[in-house]
Amino acid sequence: MDLQPARGTLDLLPPQGSRMRALYDRASALARLYGYRYVETPGFEATELFARTSGETSDVVTKEMYTFEDRKGRSLTLRPEGTAPVMRAYLAERQEQPSPFKAYYLTRMYRYARPQEGRYREHRQFGIEVFGAGDPGADAEVIAVGDAFLRGLGLVRIELQLNSIGDEVCRPAFREELVAFLREHRDRLTDEHRDRFEDNPLRVLDCKDEACRAVASEAPKMIDRLCDPCRAHFEGVQAGLKDAGLTWVIEPTLVRGLDYYTRTAFEFVSPGLSPQQATLFGGGRYDGLAEVLGGPHVPGVGFGMGLERVLLALEQEGLVPPAEPGLAVFVVGVGAAGRARAGELVRQLRSAGVASDTSFEDRPLKAQLKMADRADASYAAIVGERELEAGVVTLRRLSDGEQEEVAAEALAGAVLSRPGGASAGASAGGSAGGSAGGKEG
Ligand code: HAM
Repeated sequence: MDLQPARGTLDLLPPQGSRMRALYDRASALARLYGYRYVETPGFEATELFARTSGETSDVVTKEMYTFEDRKGRSLTLRPEGTAPVMRAYLAERQEQPSPFKAYYLTRMYRYARPQEGRYREHRQFGIEVFGAGDPGADAEVIAVGDAFLRGLGLVRIELQLNSIGDEVCRPAFREELVAFLREHRDRLTDEHRDRFEDNPLRVLDCKDEACRAVASEAPKMIDRLCDPCRAHFEGVQAGLKDAGLTWVIEPTLVRGLDYYTRTAFEFVSPGLSPQQATLFGGGRYDGLAEVLGGPHVPGVGFGMGLERVLLALEQEGLVPPAEPGLAVFVVGVGAAGRARAGELVRQLRSAGVASDTSFEDRPLKAQLKMADRADASYAAIVGERELEAGVVTLRRLSDGEQEEVAAEALAGAVLSRPGGASAGASAGGSAGGSAGGKEG
């Protein structure tokens, strides 16, 4: 049996698991701070949902979906992205939902792409969506949430790229113009686009290949051809970003890889990472999506952020990722009586909300101290014969071996009042603001 995970998937054991968990916790705290509420949708959906919304010519639909038939012959697809499923779920029970509807999710996505660092077949996204708000203030808020998340982790080498790709009023004429331009430059395109750009010329602008990028840089630009309402909206978004204290660059060739976008398109890029993995999050407005699903007009805007890429970007900037806190205290009981006392102490500590553990088996002191280290505990509380007699425990700080005696019945309070002692399960959420950890020494 091959014990490696399937190609393009990751096992996240400690410490990676704790790091991912800490990102989830920060993301939820931040989303709630801005009034977003947690949603979940199924891991698989009718294939049609993605085929109709991501676009028949998108990479996701043409080559990346994990599609299978169930026993009744229904075509189902593992969720490759979160926006269409959340919209579907919202449309199914919109009467009971507030407007605007502000949702966030933290979940796995599946795309059959060639795996490389930063590109996986299963990846995790923090996503937020606002339904029912056409105002540019909603676009600016969504972008500000993503920005706050990345900056809260301490990332500074990140760039917000912004564009408007127009709407059903102004985009068709632009599209014609772009097709005509691409026909003239057909020979310069990569094979992939040469015979297919007529179906979706915007894909050429999204291509990461050098040759296509050169053509794209000379191509007509949508932002010069926006209709008045789209232009006003784009200006409104920028005014909102300015109010929020954000900086951005306008990137006229920025289009997104999924078809449902209208008007605003944006990406946060970490220039330190290679182009294939540099986009930490991307999103935009999708005012026509609900109608594609047979619903009423529901304007929407949101982003999806790749959390594995966020961890890569932290590493790249030399930052220590936040991690779920380890144990506050590991109680070391020596001898039968010591172990019995350790059991009692752990029960007391846990009911006082102090994350603590002890050995299941009788082991020598040294072995138990090693267990304490492995468990990432801040302190070891040692109960041997001498401590039992005196009614105390020896509280040892594991970072430097400093130790002192505290009264056994006061152990919980003593741990809680010390640095690292409050890392109990109950407070493991971490704060949404503030820097994650600072530079690695
Ligand atoms: P997307 O650009 O396809 O957009 O994906 C969003 C983010 O997920 C990317 O910027 C990237 O960080 C991460 N990502 C995508 N594919 C992979 C992969 N194979 N491996 C690792 N990370 C990946 C969407 O999915 C839209 N639903 C975003 C959105 C939400 N737009 C509006 N609302």
